[in-house]
Amino acid sequence: MENNGQTQKSDLHEIIEKEILNNGGEWASDPNCEGATGMTMFDLPNSEDNLVSVLLPMSNIKNIGAHSIVEIRSRSKGNGGDGKIYRGIVVAGPFHDPDGIRADAPILISTTINGAIFLPNFHGRVLVELLGELNEDAIMPPRFRPLPNSPVFVLGKEETAKVLNVQGNVSLGQAIGHDSIDVCIPADKKIVLPRHTGILGTTGGGKSTTVSGLIDQFQQQGIATILIDTEGEYTHMDKPTEAGNMKKLLSKKGIDPHGIQNIKVYHPLGRETRAEAPTAISEFNLKFSNLSPYAAADILGLTEAQFIRFFKAYDAAKVILKDLGIYPKKGQEKEIFEMDEFETGYPHITLSLLIDIGGLVLEKISPGTEPIILNQFMKENKANDKVANRIKIVIGGNTDNESSWKALLGKLWQLYRTQMFDKATEKEIPFNDLIQAGTVSIFDLSDSDSTLINNIVIANLLRGIQQVQEVAYDKAVKEEKSPTPVVIIIEEAHEFLSKERINKMSNLFEQVARIARRGRKRWIGLMFVTQLPQHLPDEVLGLINSFVLHKINDATVVSRLKRSIGGVEESLWNKLPNLAQGQAIVSTPSLTRPLLVAMNPTPCKLLMVD
Ligand SMILES: Nc1ncnc2c1ncn2[C@@H]1O[C@H](COP(=O)(O)OP(=O)(O)O)[C@@H](O)[C@H]1O
Ligand SMILES: [Mg+2]
Repeated sequence: MENNGQTQKSDLHEIIEKEILNNGGEWASDPNCEGATGMTMFDLPNSEDNLVSVLLPMSNIKNIGAHSIVEIRSRSKGNGGDGKIYRGIVVAGPFHDPDGIRADAPILISTTINGAIFLPNFHGRVLVELLGELNEDAIMPPRFRPLPNSPVFVLGKEETAKVLNVQGNVSLGQAIGHDSIDVCIPADKKIVLPRHTGILGTTGGGKSTTVSGLIDQFQQQGIATILIDTEGEYTHMDKPTEAGNMKKLLSKKGIDPHGIQNIKVYHPLGRETRAEAPTAISEFNLKFSNLSPYAAADILGLTEAQFIRFFKAYDAAKVILKDLGIYPKKGQEKEIFEMDEFETGYPHITLSLLIDIGGLVLEKISPGTEPIILNQFMKENKANDKVANRIKIVIGGNTDNESSWKALLGKLWQLYRTQMFDKATEKEIPFNDLIQAGTVSIFDLSDSDSTLINNIVIANLLRGIQQVQEVAYDKAVKEEKSPTPVVIIIEEAHEFLSKERINKMSNLFEQVARIARRGRKRWIGLMFVTQLPQHLPDEVLGLINSFVLHKINDATVVSRLKRSIGGVEESLWNKLPNLAQGQAIVSTPSLTRPLLVAMNPTPCKLLMVD
């Protein structure tokens, strides 16, 4: 080998060039990284599955924030990577870290506390939760992690909306932390509403505003809405809102305040309503025979002894109706076999008939008591063998249970005095009208001042609507038409379905659970609204798949909800006690993940609750 300087030099060049070639050629900025907001970091011993730290140059910190949706393009195959593309969401940060020095380095701390300025260059850091790996157009659960030093891009508005899956025909509000992303639900699909909704939050959190705004949109989408309004708060929804802040918020969205068209307010016969003409107002009363005797017993809160006697009287009523030729008449026998007493009452049995039977029993047990007989046909047939014998059978050998009969009769009278049943003028709820597309029916119970009545009305409504909707749904399917969706909204749901009550009223709950199950198939969505979710039993929370959580500051309630609602990250839960009016955490099956949402203002008028 020659040994002059010239050759040595060219040798060195050659070696270096070879070395460069071996290492991938001349350095060029990676085109894959162009436009990247940040780069992924190496993992640390405390790194967690599904969470990736991303570093940002100082100038890019402003481009990424909480909830930003990002795409991470793991290094390409040519660069020794796997070329996988991931989608993720920023769940913490942006944090600021100094360059080349620890944030808690003594020199930084002592200069800062002594008021001196020592500001090293710094960079940003965010924590990204992986939503999945992009595979063709679908997002799959990730099996791997993005490699270190992979570029991270913040997605634009449209892409972000697609990843969050906020599309739908009913808008809830704006996603907080994103630039004008409208969070919607597909109210025309079975994935959300018929799987039932809970709207929870303290008084003043924004529940009624959310509910009334939804009803307006439901109507536009051809949904039939039935609202149980315990305070009469919604009875002026046909007028535009007068609230200054609502008007301001609406005008920002380019929406004019407006009332909801063609609402109809129903109220119990003989009670007041907060609605005023020209709003359509209609009275109603109930048929005792629509109420399952088990549900009736639940609602009356019968003791075991009273329960046994209630059913004795109920059975006697059936036989007396038959013996007196009232029901069933010829050709009606078949109906009886098809009846399910857990769901409905026995045709023609009235509360007054049970009271008459109870009165006659009591008269036999303690002679001298003068029963009030309410039904003319019972007055006339009191001495008739058929009736008299039946009363004897009811009593059997027991003549010592006067107090139980008295107590039962007292409860039946209490119910009778509510005047909800057995009116001379029958004003049945027109169930078929309630399930027509675009109808909004409000049941104003503000003057009932009795949870007993409210619960009976609700039980009756649920049952009646279920019956007509099942028929209507099946008919629509047969005719290959799209069935009309039905949504039933129950305000103050804790009063109807409270824990204490459900322990005692298992039949009533069973009925609700059955409607919830069947509603999924037959398009009935239940929406429970309450400021006291702590009173809702786990069984009820278990029926609900979508939640709108307005402000809740009770820590025990929050921790209970955590157990019932999956997928909400800790940082969102922490926000729940401090949400502003109208803000809510929304979790529904259609969204990729729960979101913090500034709920829409309402265009219509709500009344004050006193
Ligand atoms: N989406 C919203 N945007 C702005 N403000 C709201 C919103 N919802 C409610 N608010 C404000 O909060 C107040 C109480 O709301 P409301 O719906 O009556 O709460 P709740 O029914 O939970 O008691 C409203 O009068 C309104 O001023
Ligand atoms: Mg309210």
